[in-house]
Amino acid sequence: MQNWNLIALKQIDSTNEEAKRIIAKNQQIENSVVWAESQTKGKGRLDRKWESPCGNLYCSFIVKNENAHLMGFTTAVAVIEAIKNYVEDENKVKSKWPNDVLVEGKKISGILLEVYENYLIIGVGINVNSHPENSSYPTTNLLETGENVRAYDVLESLSESLLDNINLLKNKGFVVIREKWLQYAYKIGEKIQVNLINESTKGTFKGISEQGALILQTNSEIRNIIAGDVFYL
Ligand code: BTN
Repeated sequence: MQNWNLIALKQIDSTNEEAKRIIAKNQQIENSVVWAESQTKGKGRLDRKWESPCGNLYCSFIVKNENAHLMGFTTAVAVIEAIKNYVEDENKVKSKWPNDVLVEGKKISGILLEVYENYLIIGVGINVNSHPENSSYPTTNLLETGENVRAYDVLESLSESLLDNINLLKNKGFVVIREKWLQYAYKIGEKIQVNLINESTKGTFKGISEQGALILQTNSEIRNIIAGDVFYL
């Protein structure tokens, strides 16, 4: 795998947690990726659990802590570009704010960013040949929507596209990543509901700001939302 130092494991609690332990023990560990075939304590956003049986992809990229607030979008674009070749209809691979990836409206990948010391840990889960059955939102996997691939092949494609997009962010700025993310955005211009920590609000999904906030046109105002969960109506 070019340009990334691969740390491959059979099983671990969470590749994000392992990345933290590796950072604590080493200096100059950036541009490494921790990959595990399964996780016993996979973590999702907002303290949720991420089911992690063998067959799917679980990895955490360790990079310098730069542009952390834009890296979720950069990674989501990289995931889309990595998996669209494996999906039957590549136009059905979409981004969902803040950094989920959907195929046919169902979640196929999630991203969990964590800052640790001077590093940013970019945790990525991609459903390759199975997906959780009892989640509160629809989910899918690559086998169901297209091809039978190996998690390692997906990791190789993702490593390449992530590096390309991180370089694009560095060299051209967020405008280019934002443009791509918006091109892939699911249900832009349509009605959505956003659940915030203390309230829930509805409106039209207008896009994302130059800082990555979700732009929502409600009945009375235009709101820039920094954190929340999106539901399509
Ligand atoms: C989400 O959508 O809630 C984010 C899910 C992130 C899951 C990945 S799997 C690899 C890495 N290790 C973890 O424990 N979580 C992330």
